[in-house]
Amino acid sequence: MRRKLVVGNWKMHGNLARNKALLGAVLAGVKELRAADYGVCVPYPYLAQAQSMLQGSNIAWGAQNLSQHEQGAFTGAVAPGMLADFGCRYVIIGHSERRALFHESNDIAAAKFDAAIKFGMTPIFCVGETLQEREDGVTEQVVARQLEVVLNHAGAQSVAKTVIAYEPVWAIGTGKTATPEQAQAVHAFIRSRVAQLDGKVAGGLRILYGGSMKPGNAAELMAMPDIDGGLIGGASLVAEEFVAICRAAQQ
Ligand code: 13P
Repeated sequence: MRRKLVVGNWKMHGNLARNKALLGAVLAGVKELRAADYGVCVPYPYLAQAQSMLQGSNIAWGAQNLSQHEQGAFTGAVAPGMLADFGCRYVIIGHSERRALFHESNDIAAAKFDAAIKFGMTPIFCVGETLQEREDGVTEQVVARQLEVVLNHAGAQSVAKTVIAYEPVWAIGTGKTATPEQAQAVHAFIRSRVAQLDGKVAGGLRILYGGSMKPGNAAELMAMPDIDGGLIGGASLVAEEFVAICRAAQQ
């Protein structure tokens, strides 16, 4: 039985005062919830704040990106070891916003994946198709290609330490959610691809859904057999909404 996992992706939102209130309310709301795992991926400058507030709690923290390089002349970049220094458990890799707005290729995402594993963090590796790709009927090909770059070289042991997030691009920040059946179909496809590598790893792999997951749709999405939790954008910035989704993961 896979434990559900709910992770907030704050994206580029927050400030010290707002984060303090948000984390305080989320901590209070989830502290009794023991049947699932929780995390928040915050902007880099707030990692120290997240670490000091969440240490010892049932909420892990992490980052939204990292450099594939360990150190050097990479102005503005943040090394994997720096994230490890701040106790990050998770790091989001290959988010569609990184792919589209920052031109991150599948190969860069794969290199970042390796860097995260090497430094003992759990990559939350994102895949997902655009609306055009869905309408063209190529969702599975797109997702397969995004997955392959990691599966082909990482090996089963690395994939076992990973979380995959299926985030259809057309559902991100749009209020338009994939139906439970649409999401389940892609999640099952992802698991079947991983099973070609290693059946046991595929059985234990947590595959999160992301894309306008809200308190009103979280329970029905997470009730699907291959949906093991959520990667939450907008709703992770509102304590009551995030806590409600965390509660839904308990059922
Ligand atoms: P929304 O929940 O705002 O649609 O964002 C999803 C997402 O991109 C999480 O990584």
